[in-house]
Amino acid sequence: MKSKLVLVLMFVAYLVKADEGMWMPQLIDALNIKDMKKNGFKLTAKDIYDINKASMKDAVMIFGGGCTAEVISNKGLILTNHHCGFSSIAGLSTVEKDYLKNGFFAMNQNEEISCKGLTVTFIKRIEDVTTKVTENIGANFSEQQKDSTIQVNVKNLEAIAKKGNHYDAFIRPFYYGNEYYLFVTEVFKDVRLVGAPPESIGKFGGETDNWVWPRHNADFSMFRIYADKDNKPSEYNTENVPYKPQYSFPISLQGAEKGDFTMVYGFPGRTQEYLTSYAVELLVDQQDPVRVMLRKKRLEIMEEDMKKNDTLRLMYVNRYAGVANAYKKWSGEMLGLKKSDAINKKKKNEADFLKLLETDKVKSEKYSNLFKEFEKTYADYASLSKQYDYFTECLLGIDGIRMTGSFMSIFAELKKKQAGKENKLVDVLKKTVPAIPFKNFNKETDRKLFKAMMDIYMKDVDRTIMPNYLDSLFTAFKNNTSDLTNYIYSSSVLIDNTKAKPIFEDFEKNASIVEKDPLYILTAAIYSHYQKTVIPQMSYYDKQINQLQQEYMLGLKENVKDKKFYPDANGTLRVAFGKVSDYDGKDGIHYLHYTTMDGLVEKNKTGEEDFYVKPRLLDLYAKKDFGQYADKNGKLRTCFIGSNHTTGGNSGSPVLNAKGQLIGTNFDRNWEGTMSDIMYNGSFCRNITLDVRFTLWMVDKYAGAGYLLNEMKIIK
Ligand code: ARG
Ligand code: GLU
Repeated sequence: MKSKLVLVLMFVAYLVKADEGMWMPQLIDALNIKDMKKNGFKLTAKDIYDINKASMKDAVMIFGGGCTAEVISNKGLILTNHHCGFSSIAGLSTVEKDYLKNGFFAMNQNEEISCKGLTVTFIKRIEDVTTKVTENIGANFSEQQKDSTIQVNVKNLEAIAKKGNHYDAFIRPFYYGNEYYLFVTEVFKDVRLVGAPPESIGKFGGETDNWVWPRHNADFSMFRIYADKDNKPSEYNTENVPYKPQYSFPISLQGAEKGDFTMVYGFPGRTQEYLTSYAVELLVDQQDPVRVMLRKKRLEIMEEDMKKNDTLRLMYVNRYAGVANAYKKWSGEMLGLKKSDAINKKKKNEADFLKLLETDKVKSEKYSNLFKEFEKTYADYASLSKQYDYFTECLLGIDGIRMTGSFMSIFAELKKKQAGKENKLVDVLKKTVPAIPFKNFNKETDRKLFKAMMDIYMKDVDRTIMPNYLDSLFTAFKNNTSDLTNYIYSSSVLIDNTKAKPIFEDFEKNASIVEKDPLYILTAAIYSHYQKTVIPQMSYYDKQINQLQQEYMLGLKENVKDKKFYPDANGTLRVAFGKVSDYDGKDGIHYLHYTTMDGLVEKNKTGEEDFYVKPRLLDLYAKKDFGQYADKNGKLRTCFIGSNHTTGGNSGSPVLNAKGQLIGTNFDRNWEGTMSDIMYNGSFCRNITLDVRFTLWMVDKYAGAGYLLNEMKIIK
């Protein structure tokens, strides 16, 4: 009896680490509030989430496609990251008015600029709809029948939630489909840029510092939500007025000290904390290494050309950042998972779980079979996953192929629809495919990418499983990838913007030329091969794995009684809480929990391009005019770290103190800590927050937009 209890406690201790978890706000009262209070939180669960009166949830939004933002004034002013506002800021920038390069701050409301297509989404309420979603599922239903019943139920419930109001609604599965929740949302479509620092400060440290602590960038931008005269969402309209929010965060200038309670409220995108050892093994030994190797090669090639001149640099800078972001994250994730012996920990975890069920014959057999199923499934899945990665990361890593691919599918669709119709195909095509002729594309750079990726592909992928056509090309060119590359890149019109232009001017006449283009033929063969073979099999296994995970998850929840299980992140509203905390990095390195402007200037002095800042910032630093934003010792703090469990999508999330006051904006994680998407480790997984005092100093002293502070509620 005693040993069983010890075992349960050990298991629980392993799973419930303080600070781990991304919790659903509507369940805080039932699950977390005690813990939060113990850690210093001073408010109630209802202050975080309440559907009857204003609460913090009314000030947190999905920003654009995949970030978080928060309301910081009663006039709809919102705060998010610079990298979240990046595409909007870039979209508004021209050579004459380069807001990315120079920054921008409206000096009054009239100067705020509308951002076409940018939306923010508030959550009105969250409802457990598990019973309704799983209604009418017969006991004898096949998996397919179950799936389609669920889909029908989801559609109906979403429609009901939207009926007779201006809200939107979506339902998401939780715990691998063991539960379903409905989110009723309000989407605002008139969002205007208020201000952003120059990119050199917003993205200070560039790719060098990305995913790295210590950090010094002011990764923020500000926008304002506009609504119609009834405070309801409306498309952009000059008559619209600033939105009056139900709640906005007060801002504290008191800063954050080691050990202080912090909480992050936002929309984390995706985590996989309940993977088995088999999945983690696949990730660490195959998936991450393959993806990292392929991206590394692409980055080398892009970098080499970007160094040649500014035209090429600008052409590739955005794509480079995108490729580099995941590359660096995955390498850090691998490192962290190895460092913390994740595979063995998972194995032990699984063994402990079986041990816990030892006395229950039925259960113990059920779950040991389940683990065997996992093992078998992943063994079959591994080679498939590798094929898929060589498709997406290697073949589609060639811009010519990826761009032709996206154009090809639309082209084929349109041809079908347009057959016999009046509308000129070319007009529709031009509107739908602005990428032709390909923009931000340099044929010579892509030629190198093509050759490099083909070399790797030929070496690593078995001839019997590659697209037949590619195999025959390799044979025809006697495995000489230089000749193959020349064949494609010297004759394709698609990747030659001067040749492509006249062809697309009179597309109807020239469509057949395009279809005979060697790159087009190759791309079509590649897509058709993967769409027929690998992708359907992948989705078969993905479903299979999801079902196994669903059972495992249910098993954990039902049997490990004293443990609270948080659902994996799925782009829905969550609360993470933890503490401001330092950590030990590599052997001999201890990292402090905060940085100051001194460090920014030190980095700048290295003269490296990523650490360039405008002279104005250095002048202001020299004057040490930090005013009310300075810390007790007169220094200006820039960023701080904490043990809050966050992931992609949490960018821009409000970081709050024990009283629910805003002390910063979440924007990144430390490198080795990125493993927290798979396995959180409280001793070194840290989220990186921009200190709100640095933000306000930038707004006030650097940009001279101090008037904005008048509408904020500032606590000194
Ligand atoms: N790593 C952060 C994220 O995942 C920031 C990315 C943007 N910043 C950059 N230096 N590339 O989105
Ligand atoms: N920068 C990430 C984002 O855009 C957040 C960093 C993370 O993954 O924790 O959401």
